[in-house]
Amino acid sequence: MEEMCTNSAHVNISEMIRKKRDKQSLSAEEINYFVQGVTNQSIQDCQIGAMLMAICLQGMTQEEAVNLTQEMKLSGAVLEWPKEWSSVIVDKHSTGGVGDKVSLVLSPALAACGCKVPMISGRGLGHTGGTLDKLESIPGFNINKSPEEIKQILATVGCCIVGQTANLVPADKKLYAIRDVTSTVDCLPLIAGSIISKKGAESLAALILDVKYGEGALYKNISEARELAEYLVYVGNSLGIQTVAAISRMDNPIGKRIGNSLEVIESIECLKGKGPKDLEELVTCLGGHLLHLCGKAGSFKAGEKDIKNALQNGCALGKFQAMLVAQGVTPDLARALCQGEEVLRCAIKQEELKAEAEGMMLH
Ligand code: URA
Repeated sequence: MEEMCTNSAHVNISEMIRKKRDKQSLSAEEINYFVQGVTNQSIQDCQIGAMLMAICLQGMTQEEAVNLTQEMKLSGAVLEWPKEWSSVIVDKHSTGGVGDKVSLVLSPALAACGCKVPMISGRGLGHTGGTLDKLESIPGFNINKSPEEIKQILATVGCCIVGQTANLVPADKKLYAIRDVTSTVDCLPLIAGSIISKKGAESLAALILDVKYGEGALYKNISEARELAEYLVYVGNSLGIQTVAAISRMDNPIGKRIGNSLEVIESIECLKGKGPKDLEELVTCLGGHLLHLCGKAGSFKAGEKDIKNALQNGCALGKFQAMLVAQGVTPDLARALCQGEEVLRCAIKQEELKAEAEGMMLH
């Protein structure tokens, strides 16, 4: 059956699947048609699955990947900011790993240095905890904020960490769900489309990618990590976001504490300038690059120094505390949380897990 594209050209989804299956390139118009059909559900799930598998097996040119990402970004709302913020809206994406609590520290540290950080984070994947899960271990913390509320928090505090709103990149929700059940997650153009479209919808000026490799990471060797990093940087820059990637080795968890509430505690230690060295190093490196990219620092080194100062002088901690209150934590609890570990232990939900048998855990 032949279907109509919005611009009246004839586009046929099964013919598009055949083209991609046979390693031909899809035009910008065809990719627009595909993403619109995914979003408005006029393309069947089996056809989406077939197209994703064809992309996975035959790949995409860089031009196709950029077009796919741009169309995905435009499949829903795109956040808008006051003009005067246009150069300082920044965010980061991490490929994740056990004990990765960088967002909790980096976001307020960047706000303390004058950036606006509308951090849209995710839940845990597999055995790794998600930033949202960690923050939700603080009683009252609310990750659901509308675009208007996000803008308000950025105006007053400078940073927020929230979940994805329903109308932000709806095409990714559908595509990701189908990728998940069709073994098409591990595919560079689809990964780039998924990650960068969401960052594009945040209307960022600058983005840092934290790509990890090693025993504790998704990518076991540096060449895989480099390939992903280069791909994401290309697509990010093509969408008009100044994008750089840091590739870091991860053979062990980051910091010393693992588990949602424990990672909040360790993040607060880092926000006081007393965090574990590896966590502080990552935060200052990623933050240093972002401050340099968005023009808040004259060099990467100067940016690193600014982030370090914000951790030492209490400004980053102050931003974290203000962010907690702006996102639903009572002022008394937010103050207590940021003051000392004893209060933290009482305030944060704890759950005791009992081993079913005696034994030792070896690395
Ligand atoms: N994170 C995403 O949001 N999408 C991917 O495809 C992979 C990681």
